[in-house]
Amino acid sequence: MEIALPCEAKLGHGWFGPEVGAGGQTFRWTSAHWSLEDICRDPSRPYVLCTIESNFPAPNERIRVLADDRPMTEWRLVHGRGCYAVAIPPGVDTLTFRLSSPLPAALKHDDPRLLGVKIYAIKLANQAEVLEHIPRNEVNRRRNHAEFWAGKAELESYPQALGVDLHAQCNMVPRCVYCAWDETKRIEGPAQNVAVGPETLLGYGPFFDNARELTNCSYAEPFLSPRIGGLLNLFAERGIWLEITSNGLVFGPAQRAQVLGRRIRLYVSLDAADSRTYASLRTDAFARVCENIRQLCQLKRDHAGLPEVLLVFMPMKINLGQGVAFVDLAKRLGADHVVLRPLEVTTATPLIDRALQTFDYREQTLPWPVCCRIADQMHARGWEIGQSVLSQMSFGVEEETFAARYGTPICSEPWLKMYPLRRGFIPCCYSRHAIAPWGTPPEQVWNSPFMKQLRTDLAAGHLNDHCRSCTTCPIVQRRLYVEAEKDRHAASDLALDRSR
Ligand SMILES: C[S@@+](CC[C@H](N)C(=O)[O-])C[C@H]1O[C@@H](n2cnc3c(N)ncnc32)[C@H](O)[C@@H]1O
Ligand code: SF4
Ligand code: SF4
Repeated sequence: MEIALPCEAKLGHGWFGPEVGAGGQTFRWTSAHWSLEDICRDPSRPYVLCTIESNFPAPNERIRVLADDRPMTEWRLVHGRGCYAVAIPPGVDTLTFRLSSPLPAALKHDDPRLLGVKIYAIKLANQAEVLEHIPRNEVNRRRNHAEFWAGKAELESYPQALGVDLHAQCNMVPRCVYCAWDETKRIEGPAQNVAVGPETLLGYGPFFDNARELTNCSYAEPFLSPRIGGLLNLFAERGIWLEITSNGLVFGPAQRAQVLGRRIRLYVSLDAADSRTYASLRTDAFARVCENIRQLCQLKRDHAGLPEVLLVFMPMKINLGQGVAFVDLAKRLGADHVVLRPLEVTTATPLIDRALQTFDYREQTLPWPVCCRIADQMHARGWEIGQSVLSQMSFGVEEETFAARYGTPICSEPWLKMYPLRRGFIPCCYSRHAIAPWGTPPEQVWNSPFMKQLRTDLAAGHLNDHCRSCTTCPIVQRRLYVEAEKDRHAASDLALDRSR
């Protein structure tokens, strides 16, 4: 049992003995300083590539790498496992590593040793292997994460993820009852006629080059785009993960061929566990959509399980009581996950009649605690039958925990993501407020006064007016609920005092 090492190299000072990690792989803890000796430099593989796990939550810690006491590079550590590389100059046979500080006692779980990081493997590598393990945009990701952690308002890094708008037309006619179609198309104006293809995204320069994930945020059916094949090829070439939502109406062999085996999270909107409810919300094609999903889920087993298939359920009055049946349906169809998504109320939408039901937003929206109860029931059913259930209602919970413990910003959206959409640049995924029109160069928006103020407020732990207007944001919902509860208690205490 030993960690992988280049054949001649020896562990120098600062290493603890081998241990087995949670995934069954061997690692060694280092101390705060450690060394690697007798490295036989191979000109065809001139890099040392280390697989390191950092238990530091903050990305503030660094490892300085010295070759025979000459500083070579500094690695900024990110939480979790990652690869780090250094080029070894000719004639060097010892590398020393110095961590900026040892792991604090609170993170060592009573281990009395002076610990640094966990190292799983060290190997010699050529440039192609380094790029395979450390993509070009990894440096940006680490810098971006550090700027978020520090709560910086003006960023040198680029977003790690982009919201994109791949298409603007939809085959659902009439439109789904809850879709803010008319309002969105009015806001998009002429931008809805602009063709978006690979060249559009390549035109974003470093904003696209540094994106590791894309989320398609179109009000449209994206698989209708004549450019979707070229776009998916471009994302595959760059190893980009794509999140994309489809109504699943047309998902035959051509669409399946475009997504099978690819890094795609494909969300299919259903919101109903039976054809009657589906027809009241969308159309009468429930059986066809379910069959499309079932076939895709079966075929993807021979393609490394990709794309991931997620079935969307928005709790509302019309589907109240169908949550558990929806989890069962996902299991039968072979979907990877059920996803709960909160319904957004778009004020401009009038009452809509469909399949003999009238859809009234105000009546359909469920109070937050009711949505949480539905989520609990669906999670419980998922546990029972072995079906993963995710909830976008727990959006931001991890950041809030970190914020309470380490004073980091209460939401990461304005640091990690950017949304250049046809309806304008929106500052976060829950916003309907455009801060710049479609076509604005991204560099004019990223560090604009609005974005800097939003970051400053979130870093100070405040929801500003923009956030408070995004009433479907789960972070906002949770905070407003807590504030309302506090006010209620304060008012009842006051009433009690007066009555005494
Ligand atoms: C606008 S659609 C576009 C993709 C595709 N046409 C579809 O229906 O899945 C993207 C997602 O937005 C959701 N959506 C539509 N209206 C919504 C609303 N009022 N509140 C929350 N989500 C909504 C849809 O259910 C879908 O999951
Ligand atoms: S299928 Fe999607 S884009 Fe089309 S009307 Fe329905 S929700 Fe809107
Ligand atoms: S509304 Fe505010 S808290 Fe919610 S996602 Fe947007 S920026 Fe973050």
